[in-house]
Amino acid sequence: MADVKITDIRKSYGAVEVIHGLNIDIGDGEFVALVGPSGCGKSTLLRMIAGLEPINGGTIAIGDRVVNNLPPSQRDIAMVFQTYALYPHKSVAENMGFALKVAKADKADIERRVREAAEILSLTEYLDRKPRHLSGGQRQRVAMGRAIVRDPQVFLFDEPLSNLDAKLRIQMRTEIKELHQRLKTTTVFVTHDQIEAMTLADRIVVMQAGRIEQVGTPLDLYDNPANEFVATFIGAPSMNLLAGDLADGKIRLGGQTFAGPPGAGRVKMGIRPEHLLLSDDGLPMEVKVVEPTGSETMVFLTFENQDVTAVFRERHTFQSGETVHLKPDPDHIHVFDAVTGARL
Ligand SMILES: Nc1ncnc2c1ncn2[C@@H]1O[C@H](COP(=O)(O)OP(=O)(O)OP(=O)(O)O)[C@@H](O)[C@H]1O
Ligand SMILES: [Mg+2]
Repeated sequence: MADVKITDIRKSYGAVEVIHGLNIDIGDGEFVALVGPSGCGKSTLLRMIAGLEPINGGTIAIGDRVVNNLPPSQRDIAMVFQTYALYPHKSVAENMGFALKVAKADKADIERRVREAAEILSLTEYLDRKPRHLSGGQRQRVAMGRAIVRDPQVFLFDEPLSNLDAKLRIQMRTEIKELHQRLKTTTVFVTHDQIEAMTLADRIVVMQAGRIEQVGTPLDLYDNPANEFVATFIGAPSMNLLAGDLADGKIRLGGQTFAGPPGAGRVKMGIRPEHLLLSDDGLPMEVKVVEPTGSETMVFLTFENQDVTAVFRERHTFQSGETVHLKPDPDHIHVFDAVTGARL
């Protein structure tokens, strides 16, 4: 195992810079998720760590070795991709042991390591099968098995679950978490699914357009987003943002006032859907759609032409068109500069 230190790393394709000097320190044994919208540079960053993509500036160190100029095979990493890229004509066992065979490992050693990995991943009974005779989840496990047998210093995952259906995705998510708790291998996991990132990672790196917006533990990011982008990216359904005016430590909004930070100007008040409380002195909002899920009631509303989502643990039977009064929980109000998006 090893830590991974990424220092001022840059990447350009032709004249276009897509990664603009990133710094991330990943601890030994840590599980870090990279999240961000499509095209923000997650895969590029992962591929630079793997050595699949040359870098245009900065350094990447794995353990105490700077690996900038090392080929992928010498970085002691294993990567799992979205498409499993299994060899169709090889058995599960051969797929899992292939990298070791190429590296000229001892035959008995390969067999032992494949058997151990198969055991961990519940693949033992499938070792002789060809990939086409496996389910999607089993194929994904083989792809992980291929990474595990190499016992690398670092696992790199690029959206490994995005080809699976919703139920299997959640199951594999738990398996990956268990695997990490068991092996404690330093892991960098790319996903654009923020729930996946929240549930798996020790720390999350939120990226946008080749830059880091914030790094923190999942609950850190949820409770104290550094800006509007992180606030709305982390959490589902998204945080509500209501336009208001800040002056003298008070936010004025919809004819009401709320305690705010110092400063003055146009702001957006952020409230998570679960922090809108039914109350007679709340803000009047018009119900559009009610979605009961059994465990909770999700309600979509409008307030001063702004979309609002509220989530209740209780069951409510609001009617479309009805006005309800929802009060932002004063302990959970976030305030962002309306222009820069920075947290105030
Ligand atoms: N080979 C390439 N040549 C030119 N531009 C590229 C190349 N590969 C990626 N890019 C650009 O670099 C940026 C980052 O791409 P990257 O694939 O890392 O994004 P991503 O965050 O992984 O997105 P997604 O969530 O869609 O997988 C994008 O703007 C993309 O168009
Ligand atoms: Mg990608």
